[in-house]
Amino acid sequence: MIFKTIYEDVRAIFRNDPAAKNIEFLLYPGFHAILAHRFIHPLYKIGIPFFPRLFSQIVRFFTMVEIHPGATIGRGFFIDHGAGIVIGETAEIGTNCVLFHNVTLGGTGKHAGKRHPTIGNNVIIGTGAIILGPLRVGNNVNIGANTFLYMVDIPNNCTVVGTPGVITRMNGRQVHLKPEKTILPSNTIVEKAPSPEHEIAAPEI
Ligand SMILES: CC(C)(COP(=O)(O)OP(=O)(O)OC[C@H]1O[C@@H](n2cnc3c(N)ncnc32)[C@H](O)[C@@H]1OP(=O)(O)O)[C@@H](O)C(=O)NCCC(=O)NCCS
Repeated sequence: MIFKTIYEDVRAIFRNDPAAKNIEFLLYPGFHAILAHRFIHPLYKIGIPFFPRLFSQIVRFFTMVEIHPGATIGRGFFIDHGAGIVIGETAEIGTNCVLFHNVTLGGTGKHAGKRHPTIGNNVIIGTGAIILGPLRVGNNVNIGANTFLYMVDIPNNCTVVGTPGVITRMNGRQVHLKPEKTILPSNTIVEKAPSPEHEIAAPEI
């Protein structure tokens, strides 16, 4: 199973990178990062403490790709160039997705529990895209370079670009749509209480 997934990851490199030739893919830091994650994630899932995180930090040191051991990533995953990627603990990524360098799939800092994005199948995320919160991106979505998405959902078959992200293509037609805000079931939202040191003290008179 794990080796089939790795095989699909290798195929994804050749499918998505015209520069990939013969065994050069073995040099790709993005490949090293996902290869390691394929072995680290099961350790995290069975509840081994400390070591999955240790291994992922070692991989981060060498590749500049930080994938939290808890992140769920489907087969056929390709990270082009590698550097600067952050994928949070509760991020979920479907099959055949591509991430370019400097992509963040992060939290807002306000949510607990499921706090990172859920990405569908066949999603391309351009360089520098920042995607924050437990939002949902559908299947067959192109996210442009430097796009910013904060707690908004992107439907299937779309292109979204800009800061903040605007849907510019949907089902093959040109559009200009503001994405819908992410609505979470109230019982899953856990807003972190502000810590006392963040409270602004009343000025002394
Ligand atoms: C978004 C992207 C995937 C293209 O998807 P697409 O569905 O083919 O979209 P289109 O090229 O038809 O573009 C749709 C519209 O968005 C605009 N657009 C595309 N990418 C954009 C971006 N990153 N930022 C702002 N606008 C963008 C296009 O100009 C076009 O505008 P128009 O309709 O007014 O002409 C691609 O433009 C992109 O950003 N890829 C990332 C590649 C990358 O990161 N490369 C790094 C290599 S080192």
